[in-house]
Amino acid sequence: MKITVIGTGYVGLTLGAGLANLGNEVCCLDVIEEKIAKLKSGKIPFFEPELDSLVDQNVKAKRLFFTNHKKEAIEHGQVIFIAVGTPSQKDKDGKFIDDIDLGYIDGAARDIATYASEYKLIVTKSTVPIGTAERIKKVIAEMTPKEGIVGGQKKSFDFDIASNPEFLREGAAIRDFENPDRIIIGVETEKAKALMTQLYQPLQRIGRPIVFTDIKSAEMIKYAANAMLATRISFMNELSRLCEKTGADIKEVARGIGLDDRIGPRFLQAGAGYGGSCFPKDVRGFIATAKQHGLDFSLLKVVDTINEKQKESLLPKIKKLVGDVKEKKIAIWGLSFKPKTDDIREATSLVLIHQLLKEGAQIQVYDPKAMENVRAYFSEQQRTGNGLSLMSDAYACVQDADCVVLVTEWNEFRLIDLSKVSGLVKQKNFVDGRNMYDPEEMKKLGFQYIGVGRGIGRGKII
Ligand SMILES: NC(=O)c1ccc[n+]([C@@H]2O[C@H](COP(=O)([O-])OP(=O)(O)OC[C@H]3O[C@@H](n4cnc5c(N)ncnc54)[C@H](O)[C@@H]3O)[C@@H](O)[C@H]2O)c1
Repeated sequence: MKITVIGTGYVGLTLGAGLANLGNEVCCLDVIEEKIAKLKSGKIPFFEPELDSLVDQNVKAKRLFFTNHKKEAIEHGQVIFIAVGTPSQKDKDGKFIDDIDLGYIDGAARDIATYASEYKLIVTKSTVPIGTAERIKKVIAEMTPKEGIVGGQKKSFDFDIASNPEFLREGAAIRDFENPDRIIIGVETEKAKALMTQLYQPLQRIGRPIVFTDIKSAEMIKYAANAMLATRISFMNELSRLCEKTGADIKEVARGIGLDDRIGPRFLQAGAGYGGSCFPKDVRGFIATAKQHGLDFSLLKVVDTINEKQKESLLPKIKKLVGDVKEKKIAIWGLSFKPKTDDIREATSLVLIHQLLKEGAQIQVYDPKAMENVRAYFSEQQRTGNGLSLMSDAYACVQDADCVVLVTEWNEFRLIDLSKVSGLVKQKNFVDGRNMYDPEEMKKLGFQYIGVGRGIGRGKII
């Protein structure tokens, strides 16, 4: 099939390469010229394991190509996926608010309306508020009236719309594309259903379930799934605070409740809060959608508040160990919002770095993949070199540190030689924001150690 994907971010590029690998002819469109230039020269603009070889293979097989020419891209695909960003809107101080910015979605819809001249199936891959498919239809209808065309307006074309939300996880995107738990597709015509069935047949053949539903339910399923996962995380984070007060150990509690079949073991890890480009904005977006329909989604408001508090909870732990952080050297391991990605959108590390800079600390940071993004983020804010040093590796990062803080649980840190670390630091203080290490082992190495929710149970260190 001939497919167009609008937007070559984490989702669009994975989808484009994945669909090409299933034998389709895929054109990926992006408005950022450098991104397309990079892709054309064989480079991937961000880090995602195995994506480079999948792209390379399919480019060589002439099933995948990239462009920033909208006309060429829109004319190419009978099925057009919209995979552009849907960020939270910001207030005048630059702070995120609940409402979602649908500007990129509207832009993509206008581009389709401008250049399409024959039947198209338009599929939203982006995570969007319930009702967005209707909005896209309206944008296109306004630009391409069926009757009464006046100067400058374009002829209408036939199209269907479908919602096919994305559930991939950064760091495992290819695996998730090739082996999804389920494929959710919202449609309103038989033609759209037939095209989507044909497209996903190879995955259906290997037993992956396709769930056809109406469009609004499909849009809702994506928000509901992320809201449920975020709720589990905030529940565990709130519980971790109670563990700290009462002396229970959150890891023991998680294991104990996770063995209950009705609960299950996944998404029960307490930590330093969730970040990324999905959970935070999708929870806020869901709250906004509820509000637009006259409902107060109070549960999710609390989920969001707990998460914000959790992101700020590392600094008090550092202070418990080193006192005032002014002039103290704080080493941070892990900057991406989670391991195996270079994505730092709404990452906990950024919250901590801002807090520490404000209090006059000297910060040394290291991440296996996110250094470039962190450099770009802070040089935009003119903060690099000004209390913040980007280090070349995990050991250089802890040199002379008064406290080491693990923020993102990359495997590299799991495999680290902790006795070497204990010889490099100035003071043996450790805040483990992801409960990666064994408190007893840390104690043996002479560290004062604070994890998350590790009261006096197994980790009776502090
Ligand atoms: N990243 C994830 O893990 C993930 C997972 C599931 C769902 N999603 C959802 O998928 C969507 C995309 O996420 P992402 O992380 O890939 O975003 P991203 O910001 O990495 O990429 C979006 C891309 O769209 C491009 N773009 C914007 N307007 C365009 C237009 N009119 N024409 C062509 N290109 C355009 C941008 O230049 C950018 O490269 C979002 O709605 C997100 O919530 C993301």
